[in-house]
Amino acid sequence: MSIKRDRKRILVVGASRGLGLGLTKEFLRRDYHVTATVRTAIAGAGLEDYYEQLTLDTLDINSPNLTEAFLARMKSQIFDLVVLNAGIYGPREKSLSEITPEDIAHVIMTNAINPVRLAERLALLLRPETGVLAFMSSVLGSLELNVSDTGELYCASKAMLNRLTRSFAAAHDYLTIVNLHPGWVRTDLGGPDAPLDVETSARGMADVLEARAGAGGHEFLDYRGKIVPW
Ligand SMILES: NC(=O)c1ccc[n+]([C@@H]2O[C@H](COP(=O)([O-])OP(=O)(O)OC[C@H]3O[C@@H](n4cnc5c(N)ncnc54)[C@H](OP(=O)(O)O)[C@@H]3O)[C@@H](O)[C@H]2O)c1
Repeated sequence: MSIKRDRKRILVVGASRGLGLGLTKEFLRRDYHVTATVRTAIAGAGLEDYYEQLTLDTLDINSPNLTEAFLARMKSQIFDLVVLNAGIYGPREKSLSEITPEDIAHVIMTNAINPVRLAERLALLLRPETGVLAFMSSVLGSLELNVSDTGELYCASKAMLNRLTRSFAAAHDYLTIVNLHPGWVRTDLGGPDAPLDVETSARGMADVLEARAGAGGHEFLDYRGKIVPW
């Protein structure tokens, strides 16, 4: 596929539905070329009009083989923005003592370890000076703000992501890095009672990411650009 040269380019990891799909659509509307990863082919997602601006690829961030193959396909690409969005909630309505070690490992690997491992490899593909790397975090991972007792494993996984990204940022202090809180959004993960729709959150996050280009540093920001305490 030929890619228009002057289009900005974004990679969205975990774009099959919810916020990843919302970000994909928002950046397509902003005339970016979007490389969007899914685990299985998507149909009827409203992307048909944008085929010229869209590259769909497959990636399960928990599969070392698929990750290596994906990175090999990406190796000559340069991105203005990379958003590591893939995440899971894990088992609901279970106390920590009821959750199996396998479930704990799955949530921690998906939400905390593998996004940062992937970032270590993708950092090389960011546009020098202005590229922005974003991790999809959550206010639920804020040690200061979240004093609730629900979803301990999910919350801990996002706190761990935040901690690991602090180390990652220290080791890559030439990059601009953002940990995002998208708001509480109506998706499969967020549930039907969330106050925000995907479009509002995605539009806000896109504004935040574009505004960070060339800014440097590592911030934890919500979809309105407000600082979230770590
Ligand atoms: N919704 C909220 O209120 C909210 C609030 C704060 C933070 N977040 C964060 O925002 C991100 C997106 O959440 P969402 O609400 O959009 O959830 P969602 O609708 O459940 O979508 C999750 C996305 O992550 C992908 N994914 C899951 N495991 C993956 C893996 N191993 N490899 C690659 N992709 C994987 C899913 O792909 P499949 O379709 O293949 O499963 C899907 O595209 C998550 O990191 C979540 O923690 C959400």
